[in-house]
Amino acid sequence: MSKYTIPLSKTISWDASAHGNALITGARGSGKTFFCFALMIGLATLPNNSSNLIGSGTLPTQFFIIDLKNADMGRLQHVLPKGRVATTKKAAVEVIDRFVDIMKKRADSIKNNAPFGSTARSLGMPMYYLIIDEFSATSAVFNETITKDDKSMKYRWFSALRQLSLEGRQQGTFMIIASQQASVTNSGLPSDIHEQFGLIAHLGPANKESYRLTFGNEIKIPREHIDVGEGLMWLEGQTDRGFLLPFCTPKFNPKTLQERVWLALDNQLDGRYLTMTTGNGD
Ligand SMILES: Nc1ncnc2c1ncn2[C@@H]1O[C@H](COP(=O)(O)OP(=O)(O)OP(=O)(O)O)[C@@H](O)[C@H]1O
Ligand SMILES: [Mg+2]
Repeated sequence: MSKYTIPLSKTISWDASAHGNALITGARGSGKTFFCFALMIGLATLPNNSSNLIGSGTLPTQFFIIDLKNADMGRLQHVLPKGRVATTKKAAVEVIDRFVDIMKKRADSIKNNAPFGSTARSLGMPMYYLIIDEFSATSAVFNETITKDDKSMKYRWFSALRQLSLEGRQQGTFMIIASQQASVTNSGLPSDIHEQFGLIAHLGPANKESYRLTFGNEIKIPREHIDVGEGLMWLEGQTDRGFLLPFCTPKFNPKTLQERVWLALDNQLDGRYLTMTTGNGD
């Protein structure tokens, strides 16, 4: 198990630095945002000490958030450093540009200070994650172009997304995208970005058609009854033969979840983690 692995359920774990970009889909109220919080708790406290969701926190993943609904995720503006949480279109462009900038600075730092072939993973650097909640609604906002300014923001948004999905892995900079609709046409998720996900999860009850939109046509769908907080998962390297894994997300008490997330986000600092190395992360 690498330093970047977190448990997703009792039987499935995710090596985030190897299969970093994640797509989480499902109908309204299926548990997408709660699952994002579960991932955040695990990632923010890496490395994980085997069976527990909370790890020791010496390799804390740094988070940036876009939540145009300004709902549960948006609240993180009260705990994360300034400039990391966007709840408006203009701020979303600023946050994603800032995130791309971090990716580039990380790349320069690795190139200038580490031997040829080094990656954020081989150097044991903390990961950076951009979480975009309500992705389809967000893209719809960017696709509505009335003014010249709108057009330029749309261009910046989609080109940043593409750059992050194609170039992020080496630098340990990734995205988690939560969306009610995963299909390429309906969500504004370009197919080249869709191909870069290492983890795809569909939560809550759904019909065959929505599974096919999320996972593609080649996939075999198990006959399982799926409820809120449960789902089917595709994991790069583990489910490549077309089978999906049924799984349960960690259960939380909604009343204490915020406190758990905020505690896990204890080590969110600008600057320090961009160049910090801790020795081989494998
Ligand atoms: N893992 C979980 N543990 C406990 N309760 C959960 C869990 N997942 C979902 N729930 C319950 O279901 C509700 C909806 O979950 P959540 O807000 O994550 O759904 P969503 O898919 O993000 O919905 P929306 O599309 O409206 O944003 C939560 O408020 C909570 O009460
Ligand atoms: Mg949600």
